[in-house]
Amino acid sequence: MIKIHESKSELIDAATQMIVDLACQSVDEQGRFTMVLSGGSTPKPIYEKLASDPYLEKMPWSKSYFFFGDERCVAHDSPESNYGMADKAMFSRAPIPAENIFATQDQDKDPESSAAQYEQTIRKFFKLEKGKFPTFDLMLLGMGPDGHTASLFPGTEALNERQQLVVANYVEKFKAFRITMTLPLIDHAENIVFLVAGSDKADVLSEILCSDKKDSYPAQLVKPQAGSLKWYLDRDAAAKLDPALCCS
Ligand code: 6PG
Repeated sequence: MIKIHESKSELIDAATQMIVDLACQSVDEQGRFTMVLSGGSTPKPIYEKLASDPYLEKMPWSKSYFFFGDERCVAHDSPESNYGMADKAMFSRAPIPAENIFATQDQDKDPESSAAQYEQTIRKFFKLEKGKFPTFDLMLLGMGPDGHTASLFPGTEALNERQQLVVANYVEKFKAFRITMTLPLIDHAENIVFLVAGSDKADVLSEILCSDKKDSYPAQLVKPQAGSLKWYLDRDAAAKLDPALCCS
């Protein structure tokens, strides 16, 4: 399902409201809300809004649990850090118990071990049996102009991972590792939401959503197991979509 918003600001407002609604529904139905945060710049204003009026008092913070879809292999206080961005925008401004926030550890020191440790953290939280995948209530994803999502970049090893929940993925263009959730983990989420804004995404989005090029981009490889997949777009990112051809 594709939602096109007139502006990035409207996209941000709609996504913020969607998160609050989903959080309240998840807590009503199962007593908790588990959310995977996306990194990058698009979601930052959403996290800021969640920790601001009128959303601040609507979010069930004490029963909401936050994880990261990917992380750069830098210290949490680095301007590059997804945790650092979310902490500044939301964690430090909302009444979230520290034990409800699950960040990667030692990602700047040993990516492989950090990924394995994060996998165990997720498994322990969900009390997972071996070989099983957890179902996050909400998986927020961004998308780059190259069609990457999380830190699943075109042509990288992590795209082939079907057993692990989290891996350290070497990305040639950065000459660096990234920690990323894998496609099977992403696919098991109940609600997968791509947030895509800006004209620099219009070409790749048109190929992903409207062309017959299948499975050419990492974002195209996200296929929900049993949950839903939604695209929250702004007008600029959606500029080259052909309504007649777009998948629903
Ligand atoms: C990251 C993200 C990445 C991001 C896209 C889009 O760590 O950078 O997880 O997948 O979502 O690159 O980034 P923008 O929102 O900044 O365009």
